[in-house]
Amino acid sequence: MLRDYIDIGYSPKGTDLICEFHIEPSAGVNFEEAATHMAGESSIDSWTEIATLSPELAEKLKPHVFFADEKAQTVRVAYSEDLFELGSVPQVLSAVAGNILSMKIVDNLRLQDITFPKSMLSSFKGPNFGLPGIRKLVEVQDRPLIGTIVKPKVGLNSEKHAEVAYNSFAGGCDLVKDDENLTDQKFNGFEKRAELTLKLAEKAESETGEKKMYLCNVTAPTCKEMIRRMNVLKDLGASYAMIDIVPVGWTAIQTLREEAEDAGLALHAHRCMHSAYTRNPRHGISMLVVAKLCRLVGLDQLHIGTVVGKMHGEKHEVLNLRDQCVLNKVPADESQHVLAQDWGGLKPMFPVASGGLAPTMIPDLYSIFGKDVIMQFGGGIHAHPMGTAAGATACRQALEASLEGISLQNYAKDHKELEVALGKWLKK
Ligand code: 3PG
Repeated sequence: MLRDYIDIGYSPKGTDLICEFHIEPSAGVNFEEAATHMAGESSIDSWTEIATLSPELAEKLKPHVFFADEKAQTVRVAYSEDLFELGSVPQVLSAVAGNILSMKIVDNLRLQDITFPKSMLSSFKGPNFGLPGIRKLVEVQDRPLIGTIVKPKVGLNSEKHAEVAYNSFAGGCDLVKDDENLTDQKFNGFEKRAELTLKLAEKAESETGEKKMYLCNVTAPTCKEMIRRMNVLKDLGASYAMIDIVPVGWTAIQTLREEAEDAGLALHAHRCMHSAYTRNPRHGISMLVVAKLCRLVGLDQLHIGTVVGKMHGEKHEVLNLRDQCVLNKVPADESQHVLAQDWGGLKPMFPVASGGLAPTMIPDLYSIFGKDVIMQFGGGIHAHPMGTAAGATACRQALEASLEGISLQNYAKDHKELEVALGKWLKK
């Protein structure tokens, strides 16, 4: 590969797909040389000058490294939309996050952000329900939603699982979800759990007068089993399915997006395993890119981090993810490695904060995320000293206090469940 793709004067076209990379050349490799090899390998070129690539074709399809800052270890590349198959996330990733991550000429390389051109946006459907559709489903417009993850993660039988879910709903949860590693184990089979839990969700709905949603985990091999599980949920009258997006992979997600629409199910995306390639700030693929792909394909809600909970992720990173979920036009922010993205009307996703949260953190969560967030508490509900229902009630009380601008300590004076939660979790 001997062509030079450095083209600093190039002004990207509206039809280009743009990527920002963090790039660290290996010892003895010049920065621009690494950038041009990376741009070539992710598009039309190879390691040596190839006789089959005509000058005409090279001119038409060549990538343009239009920004290169060696000190900041950052390059931006504009790729012609003709390089990509429309409607296929795997093909896009095989190009801009494929071989290039393994090249010896770089010690580290990270796909920081990606901006999709209009043609690509319109080749995907985006979320079917999205944030507004979920609010309609749950019939809650003006506050964050409260959810829980049945705990222990795995180990309960189906009856006990349904009972814990029921107590969560009765105490005030809007949503109850399975944990990421609960699918169809011998002690808690998928069908039985779905049937019993949905039945008790319905009972809680009629007792509380509130909508109660069960997010059953359909994660499995795609064609036979995952789709079959979606249809089981549909037949049981469910409104949701949940998937572990990284373990199942992008083709499965794309297939499931189609199936979910046919089944009338909203899709909850658990991002477990994302850190295998998102957490290293110098190498891999950023969570920002993962979140954008989720919106493009059309998941309805996505775990984005918590800021105050147990999951890794600085506040600015989590808020960037939140913006990609909810805004229609995301402005560029160079200092944050965020490229401008106009979502062109693809519906927003509901951001989910989950992992290590307690009711005592609700005022902080509300001030960080505002009202468009699903707050999920696992241990923070099921470890409440008075039990699961009281844990859920404590969360609702903490949310009421936050919405009314009252301190949790004051609100707890005549709200017993919150008082007990403060006793357990409030840092002295
Ligand atoms: C999740 O699915 O996000 C975690 O299992 C949350 O559980 P925790 O609230 O107990 O950390």
